[in-house]
Amino acid sequence: MVNKAQTYESTICYIAELLKVDSLPSGVLCNVAAALHEAMPHYFWVGFYLVKGERLELGPFQGPPACFAIKKGRGVCGTAWAEARTIIVADVDQFPGHIACSSRSKSEIVVPIMRKGEVIGVIDVDSEHLNAFNACDQKHLERIAGLLSSTNLI
Ligand code: SME
Repeated sequence: MVNKAQTYESTICYIAELLKVDSLPSGVLCNVAAALHEAMPHYFWVGFYLVKGERLELGPFQGPPACFAIKKGRGVCGTAWAEARTIIVADVDQFPGHIACSSRSKSEIVVPIMRKGEVIGVIDVDSEHLNAFNACDQKHLERIAGLLSSTNLI
């Protein structure tokens, strides 16, 4: 049986190939989100919020419609941006200020995408299950954030 780490490994290889494609940045990021959503059974929503001025704006994603903009320091995404670190939330109802885009979302991980010491965006993943994310998700999503950082897509 293939475990989560192995699934991330093969998906990261696929994503590395997607990132080489010369196409619209939004299309490439859509396919990165789609590749993750297809591969990871515990993902309900996965997408990008990109820094624009003082707020994060919704980028390509897979899943139900989501909120368009998040202020720095607000919600899980805005907190990950303000603190420039990955945040894992086992139960979104216990996170003060959590922004609920879907009532089906129960747990969440947000990973900053860094360039030259600055956060340029975040990868946000929601699950319909409590406590769905752990250090394995963090490690692999941080690798994906690193790959994205070294492209000119963001
Ligand atoms: N829950 C996030 C908002 C984005 S949605 O989950 C897609 C937050 O609290 O920042």
